[in-house]
Amino acid sequence: MENVHVIDHPLIQHKLTIIRDKNTGTKDFRDVVNEIARLLAYEVSRELPLKDIEIETPLVKTTQKTIAGKKVVIVPILRAGLGMVDGMLDLIPAARVGHIGMYRNEETMEPVEYFCKMPQGIDERELLIVDPMLATGGSAIAAIDALKKRGAKEMKLVVLVAAPEGIKKINEAHPDVAIYTAAIDEKLNDKAYIEPGLGDAGDRLFGTL
Ligand code: PRP
Ligand code: URA
Repeated sequence: MENVHVIDHPLIQHKLTIIRDKNTGTKDFRDVVNEIARLLAYEVSRELPLKDIEIETPLVKTTQKTIAGKKVVIVPILRAGLGMVDGMLDLIPAARVGHIGMYRNEETMEPVEYFCKMPQGIDERELLIVDPMLATGGSAIAAIDALKKRGAKEMKLVVLVAAPEGIKKINEAHPDVAIYTAAIDEKLNDKAYIEPGLGDAGDRLFGTL
């Protein structure tokens, strides 16, 4: 597996256990998904470029660092990706948000695009594609394909739980896209759900079980 970063932190592990638990209800699930997204945003933004600016403290003039360069776009894959947006925005409040709608056809497991609305100039921005689950990789690959077709060049994929199968697929299809995940789970089951996983993330976030 290449270009994959597992953000292994006690707070993340603890919170992941909460959302994996089937007894965790919708409100707590939603809250904790955002809390993990916030922690992931901290790591994902580690390489944001900085530039020098001149400011005055109450005492002296000084040269200090500020975020430079490309503006960030957070791109939730609908629907479940929405659950990570607020947490990411907490740390990167100036980010734009572009939405892309993908659902898995539950019979063929093939992703279907149903919506895409991006800010201007995505070719000059850094895109953080967010989705709690990377299972077969079909939805993420289709989303990345659609974004590249619209001009996007720099993208990171940020997920909560990834299956080895999905990571491999992304590495093959889009080796330039780094994956950030809170966990790499064991495998997919015969319905393409991640095990141990956390079930259907969209349904648990929105209470549509
Ligand atoms: C889930 C999840 C991912 C996708 C992952 O969405 O949020 O987008 O499945 O599976 P894959 O890697 O095999 O494509 P789903 O299609 O259930 O839609 P939802 O977000 O509307 O619940
Ligand atoms: N989508 C989910 O929401 N959960 C899985 O385990 C796989 C795909």
